[in-house]
Amino acid sequence: MEQDRKQKPGELQQEISRRAFFTKLGIGSLGLATAGTLSFAYQYMSPNVLYEPSPIVNAGNVEEYTTDSVTLHPALAIYIVRLQEGIFSLSAICTHLGCMTAWKPELNLIACPCHGSRFTDEGVKVAGPAPRPLPWFRTWLSDDRDVMVDRSTVIPPLEFLRV
Ligand code: FES
Repeated sequence: MEQDRKQKPGELQQEISRRAFFTKLGIGSLGLATAGTLSFAYQYMSPNVLYEPSPIVNAGNVEEYTTDSVTLHPALAIYIVRLQEGIFSLSAICTHLGCMTAWKPELNLIACPCHGSRFTDEGVKVAGPAPRPLPWFRTWLSDDRDVMVDRSTVIPPLEFLRV
């Protein structure tokens, strides 16, 4: 009977191993729970910001634009228009429902493929359902004479940039 309660050296080693195993399992579980909590806390504390591209874009050197030209930059959604009076930028987004317009040199007009609105090269609406003209954006030249456009700032029409 007395011998039954005594543990053999192998059994003691096995008991310690089991205890060590459960201790490590507990520490591991605690570590996982802490990591999960910290992850959620970081997501909760970090600002919910939507990163968008800058509204200010570089449309290339002014010498790339010949007089009496209308150049569409589809990736920037703008036109660079150079006339005798100077250079300016127009939004290429139709003011009706937001379709990308296209320059039609044979018509000498900017045309919207969606519902047929048409605009002059100065953005004035001449046909279609568009409620407003194409907006002019603030435009200036950099020190390297690159055409810079701030697509977030609308300016009154006919403010040509003399070049
Ligand atoms: S979106 Fe251009 S005319 Fe409708």
